[in-house]
Amino acid sequence: MKVFVTGATGFIGSAVAAAFARAGHETYGLFRTPGTDRPLEIAEVVPVQGTMEEPDGWRLAAERCSVLVHCAVEYSDRSWDLHRGALGALRDAGRDRSGRVLLSTSGVWVYGDTGDGAIDESAPLDPPTFVAPRPAVDAAVLSWNGGGFRTIVIRPGCVYGRSGSLTASWFESAEKGGAARVVGDGTNRWAMVHRDDLADLYVRTAESGLGGEVLNATDRSRATVNECAAAASSAAGAEGRVERIPVEQAVASMGPFATCLALDQHVDSWKAVRRLGWTPRHAGFVDAAPQLYAAWKASRGSAV
Ligand SMILES: NC(=O)c1ccc[n+]([C@@H]2O[C@H](COP(=O)([O-])OP(=O)(O)OC[C@H]3O[C@@H](n4cnc5c(N)ncnc54)[C@H](OP(=O)(O)O)[C@@H]3O)[C@@H](O)[C@H]2O)c1
Repeated sequence: MKVFVTGATGFIGSAVAAAFARAGHETYGLFRTPGTDRPLEIAEVVPVQGTMEEPDGWRLAAERCSVLVHCAVEYSDRSWDLHRGALGALRDAGRDRSGRVLLSTSGVWVYGDTGDGAIDESAPLDPPTFVAPRPAVDAAVLSWNGGGFRTIVIRPGCVYGRSGSLTASWFESAEKGGAARVVGDGTNRWAMVHRDDLADLYVRTAESGLGGEVLNATDRSRATVNECAAAASSAAGAEGRVERIPVEQAVASMGPFATCLALDQHVDSWKAVRRLGWTPRHAGFVDAAPQLYAAWKASRGSAV
């Protein structure tokens, strides 16, 4: 298959593009910033330069592909406009051509606090402010499914591995401040997934005949944020010390994003296991913390 991935230099997009290339698919990766395309070439992904602001610059490349994957994100005031615009361009590239599939990256934060009982894709949504526009975007993507055009929304948990994404701040604060910093009291749980397991799910989904579905992507680990942060702290030489920042204080300095870090979530991914035979191979953050710390250190200066 020919595959087009937006955000191919990003944390998730780079893993996804590399996984498609590794699986033998002819893969094209959209990159924005000059000079960031080398890792794409190393991963045997064909770099295509362009931006979400100007989809006309990459529309032709996308039109030549049967698998369209959206992983780009810009964290700015225009974040959701760009998100909608890029997805609309991918829809236009694929919709009138039968046998195409669009995979859109969402996230489990849209479920809000789930508490202890596991929820699946049928659960009602309760997104915190930071991701409030996301459910409408996901619904639009699902509404495009049909007429030979398949659309899928993938909801990853907090993704770990390599440069760490959200988990990087545990290592960084432990190294710099002598304690891994968490938002809230840390008794909450994050739904999590390793980036390579997540990338495998994208490939399986594209290769399947699935359409019009939401798929959660989480592993089965159930450690608290305190347990994860303590493991990160130990790995980084801070003897397991954890510093807890009250949510209100974190919101004052980080904005509404901070409330997402305090969510308590237990999200089930049985649907992907059942429908696609997807089995996350990484057991969770805590046991792998020493290797994850080493990977985080080694990937310094790299976006992925
Ligand atoms: N990371 C997680 O734990 C996690 C969990 C659940 C869901 N998600 C969702 O997954 C998606 C990807 O997240 P991520 O962590 O991979 O993000 P990321 O590492 O920040 O990657 C973002 C990518 O988008 C590109 N990009 C940014 N602005 C662009 C623009 N205007 N035009 C074209 N490309 C642009 C970046 O290119 P440059 O390199 O040039 O900046 C980069 O390749 C997001 O929607 C995020 O909310 C992430």
